[in-house]
Amino acid sequence: MAISSETFRELFASFASTVTIVTAYADDAPSGATVTACSSVSAQPPLIMVALGRESRTLSQILRAGRFGVNVLADHQEAVARLFSQSTVNKFSRLDWILDGDVPCLPDSCGFVAARLSSELTVGDHVLIVGSIEKVSCTSQTPLLYHRRQFARCEQIGVKANASVA
Ligand SMILES: Cc1cc2nc3c(=O)[nH]c(=O)nc-3n(C[C@H](O)[C@H](O)[C@H](O)COP(=O)(O)O)c2cc1C
Repeated sequence: MAISSETFRELFASFASTVTIVTAYADDAPSGATVTACSSVSAQPPLIMVALGRESRTLSQILRAGRFGVNVLADHQEAVARLFSQSTVNKFSRLDWILDGDVPCLPDSCGFVAARLSSELTVGDHVLIVGSIEKVSCTSQTPLLYHRRQFARCEQIGVKANASVA
């Protein structure tokens, strides 16, 4: 049975996703994109995966640099998510950032990963990038979510932020 693109989009719009900024530093310049297609892959060894559209400028810079960063946005960073979803080249001139583990890090974020590119796989119109995690930092801030095509705070979709797991 053929799946309509409307059904496909509805299914994934129902996911409540963490919002990340995936970054790279190549040719003396930072690049970055808003990404929800990000997941852990393996604990031993620690691996992380992101899916980037084939046309993404950040993707080409990751392939050049052989490294990438993942910044998990906190719920006060919706403007950052909107900024990095644009295709302009000078996104980093509008906010504070540092190089950490040779990749751009946004210091106000909820969490940060620096990874070395370990494999890539072109799948349809996206490229899956798998990275070996070399550095991690996390804070107790509450993450920004994306749900039903809108940015949302945990409370707005009924998630109790920072609840402990039994
Ligand atoms: C909430 C949200 C989630 C997104 N998730 C992804 C994603 O998982 N992968 C992707 O390639 N683009 C995603 N995008 C689109 C990119 O952020 C957008 O195409 C951006 O312009 C890419 O920038 P670049 O070409 O500088 O890399 C998302 C955009 C938004 C607003």
